[in-house]
Amino acid sequence: MAAARELYLDWNATTPPHPLVLEAMHAARTFAWGNPASVHAAGRRARAALDDARAELATLLERDPRDIVFTGGGTEANNLALAGATALVTSRLEHPSVTRVAEAYVARGLDVRWVAARPNGQLDLVALERALVAAPAGSVVAVAAVNHETGVIQPLREVSELTRSAGARLHVDAVQAVGRLPKAAWLFGDTLAVAAHKLRGPKGIGALATRPALVPQPVLLGGSQERGLRPGTVDAVAAVGFAAAVRRVNESVARYASLAPLRDSIERALGTVAGVNGHEASRAHHVSSLVFEGRRGDELVAALDLEGIRVSAGSACTAGTSEPSAVITAMHDRARALATVRVSLGEDTTEAEVTEFVEGLARILSRGAQPSRGA
Ligand SMILES: Cc1ncc(COP(=O)(O)O)c(C=O)c1O
Repeated sequence: MAAARELYLDWNATTPPHPLVLEAMHAARTFAWGNPASVHAAGRRARAALDDARAELATLLERDPRDIVFTGGGTEANNLALAGATALVTSRLEHPSVTRVAEAYVARGLDVRWVAARPNGQLDLVALERALVAAPAGSVVAVAAVNHETGVIQPLREVSELTRSAGARLHVDAVQAVGRLPKAAWLFGDTLAVAAHKLRGPKGIGALATRPALVPQPVLLGGSQERGLRPGTVDAVAAVGFAAAVRRVNESVARYASLAPLRDSIERALGTVAGVNGHEASRAHHVSSLVFEGRRGDELVAALDLEGIRVSAGSACTAGTSEPSAVITAMHDRARALATVRVSLGEDTTEAEVTEFVEGLARILSRGAQPSRGA
């Protein structure tokens, strides 16, 4: 079935693979399909492609290639970074791939220190300093450079200084930052998580950057691939696609930097009907977390979808129930979280598309109460 024309404004969820990525993967299918762990020629070709991709990523992340571990994506990279920590210091602003790990730690009776979020969407640094008092050796502080729902940029320099002076280790979830913001916003941390699909690479591959003296505990047990830290056959074709995405990071960062006027025009046009979560803080230029008081964000998202406009409510839907965003709840409250719609622009977003979104939303809002989506 031919896809109807759609307006995609959900680039924080995932990005359309870039043509150069598809081209690189298409070519790699013919030579890099082997098992990179095999010693024969087919394996060696895959291994060479994998090594090249690792080198590309190591340059971007300013690490030695030996300190890059390919994973199945951002979730796995975050889980791997936190495994084996003696204590976890984190907040409800984090992605579920961090908060769920912390909850599992709590369930096992381990030391988890939740740091309060400020209403502007940044971590409360005073609370962080307090949480780090008497942190045991091997404690890990986990912070995302850019928030996935609000686009708020965390003060990583300060977070890093506080972490270091407490003798703890810093894990930076850079999944929403790489390819969108310059390194100054995210190149911190002893470990660093990246996911290819957020920067126009393929799904199912990500990476964790580590340090030479730092050997995380594996989450999965199996073979010796990725130094035993992420056992399982590595998809060298996906790694080639990841590397192609990494090679165009400067171009994409420049494009994202130019999106502020488009994002601001949305917020201006909707200023009388919507608030903006995190607007008081420094934000990535492409995200707007809009609050429509008295409305349901998920219903607005469904109504926009019917008009061919793809945005997100920032909610995790499980078995037909819609949980409001934990991030907005931590910044404000559940009512505000329920009324939130996330719009995330991307490299291909145009002024005409932004106008179309604002007009579509205005039409929906003028219709009054939203139709129910059922159970
Ligand atoms: C900040 C952040 N961290 C981690 C992840 C998980 O990445 P993946 O979907 O590749 O597992 C996401 C995905 O949305 C994210 O936004």
